[in-house]
Amino acid sequence: MKIAHVSDLHFGSLNHIPEWADTVREMLDEMSPDILVITGDLTMDGYEHEFKEASAYMARLKCGKMLVVPGNHDARNEGFTMFEELFGTRFPLVETDEVVIQGIDSTEPDLDAGHIGRENYKLISDAGAVKNKVRILAIHHHLIPIPGTGRERHIPVDAGDALFTVVSSGINFVLSGHKHLPWAWRLQDTYFVTAGTATSRRLRGKRYPSFNVLDIQGDVATLSQVNVSDRSTKAHMVVSNLLSRTATDFSFV
Ligand SMILES: [Fe+2]
Ligand SMILES: [Fe+2]
Repeated sequence: MKIAHVSDLHFGSLNHIPEWADTVREMLDEMSPDILVITGDLTMDGYEHEFKEASAYMARLKCGKMLVVPGNHDARNEGFTMFEELFGTRFPLVETDEVVIQGIDSTEPDLDAGHIGRENYKLISDAGAVKNKVRILAIHHHLIPIPGTGRERHIPVDAGDALFTVVSSGINFVLSGHKHLPWAWRLQDTYFVTAGTATSRRLRGKRYPSFNVLDIQGDVATLSQVNVSDRSTKAHMVVSNLLSRTATDFSFV
């Protein structure tokens, strides 16, 4: 099964490039992913007209199921209420025979920094405890700093406890966005995969717009990155033994 992971569309920004949005749509049409995960920042400032533009675009994307979480930009100006109106929940869950994906809203209104919230840790550990499926968490903010992204300012304020919950509970992949730069870290047996921005010019240096694809075949997943500006795809990583990964029992103190 194919999971496309797209992030940081930023509708409403002068830096949102409609041609790149068209390219993403065409590439998803070709790919027809089973699940499309969008890890937030659909808009620039959470305004109603930006959400309308974003949701009209998203309605045209070809995929089996879609899971969307809000980003810090979407939570601005009471945008979180628009988000709930359009998408129903800020804590979506998608479950198929092969995967479980739990989405969590990591934003706080009108703040750029993230916050998972201890009241939400059970959502993570419940997803991590699911047997015989690949277990995925989708959040906007990164839980581990990303190289090449300058001064760290927005990491969730409870990243330590959230990381512990993720890693100890048996989550295979954490999908996030926010930094506009693709990256993957492995910590214990969990992979923390960040998608770049797919459609925004808010890039770093000579970087390009991109999105990620996770191709899961039973126990094995291949992580690829799609360059939206030249339509090339590069496989970056193969992860195996996904289903036999169990809860990690570790403590230091
Ligand atoms: Fe963003
Ligand atoms: Fe963001």
